[in-house]
Amino acid sequence: MITHFIFHSKKQLKKGKHVLPLRTSRHTMHKDILQILVTESEIAQLAQKLGQKINEDYHDKHPILIGLLKGCVPFLSDLSRHIDLKVDMAYMSVSSYHGGIKSSGDVNIKMDLDISVHGRHVLIVEDIVDTGNTIVTIVELLKHRGALSVEIVTLLDKPEGRTKPYVPKYVGKTIPKLFVVGYGLDYEEYYRNLPYVGVLKPEVYSTKEND
Ligand code: PRP
Repeated sequence: MITHFIFHSKKQLKKGKHVLPLRTSRHTMHKDILQILVTESEIAQLAQKLGQKINEDYHDKHPILIGLLKGCVPFLSDLSRHIDLKVDMAYMSVSSYHGGIKSSGDVNIKMDLDISVHGRHVLIVEDIVDTGNTIVTIVELLKHRGALSVEIVTLLDKPEGRTKPYVPKYVGKTIPKLFVVGYGLDYEEYYRNLPYVGVLKPEVYSTKEND
């Protein structure tokens, strides 16, 4: 029997449920979206506002902007163009999954930084903070490596999803416990290139009830 479940996060979606392949027939991404949660113009305003705040707070510093791949790409690209400071830009690729199905709770570094953070102010750029697992682990790691300060700028914050307490310093928008895609956020690697953040229709990720 095929049943539709409502999921609240990618972690939950991948955990313990067999997910059927995404439909492959020709259709636009937009048709898979139930509701737009953050519009393109709102995202643009948030990026500008956060960039201005960062300009004020770091006016006498040269921070390193660290993007956590892959979700950070659109936001880092837009945000960084509102930052009028001399910054280094660096990237890490991390994953909290081993094998892709079950969440391990650990964060696996798939690609490390090519720059030292020792003695530097670090600003991590994220698309979303959900459980807090990724960010708590990376903040601890960068502090251990000698960063002078480590702060987070995230487009989205989903505090209801937290399993580890963490309050990001710079937040674009706080969202409810919904599974969202777009503007960097994916479902099975798709939808990252949507220009807005939206809620995926449940029928897109049908699951088998007894698996
Ligand atoms: C997503 C997102 C954050 C993390 C947030 O990344 O980009 O890095 O999950 O979730 P958390 O607060 O529960 O740890 P993901 O590991 O899915 O990789 P991606 O950026 O390549 O999509």
